[in-house]
Amino acid sequence: MFEWKEDYACGIETIDEQHKVLFKMVSELYELYQNSDKEVYPPQFGQLFKGLQDYTVFHFTSEQKFMLLHNYPNREEHEKEHEAFLEYLNKISMDLNTKEYYQVVTDVLKFVSKWIFHHIQERDFELTEYVKKHENTV
Ligand SMILES: [Fe+2]
Repeated sequence: MFEWKEDYACGIETIDEQHKVLFKMVSELYELYQNSDKEVYPPQFGQLFKGLQDYTVFHFTSEQKFMLLHNYPNREEHEKEHEAFLEYLNKISMDLNTKEYYQVVTDVLKFVSKWIFHHIQERDFELTEYVKKHENTV
């Protein structure tokens, strides 16, 4: 379900490699969900979710450095979306103690879908197209 596809590639290797890692993490999370009792949090869930959260922070920071380096004019707008995503992930992490397992997983999957279909394919593509157009080497 969350397999990496060439359609998601923006052509900047570092960013694509990081996106691939994120897809892999989400697939693991989804696989765990499919193979577990939907009512109870499996012991590995907390760690997998934390891993996703930490890697997302790392990835956004890395994209933000990339935008600064290339004087990307829409940097602020792009960063605002990153912030909103991080806030949402934080909110989900706080729900772990109060919300049902299936509900939390549904929220994570909604988050990821929005990220893939909107953020990666629109915002990240705009960014990398800009950089490719304005510079010969990346
Ligand atoms: Fe981004």
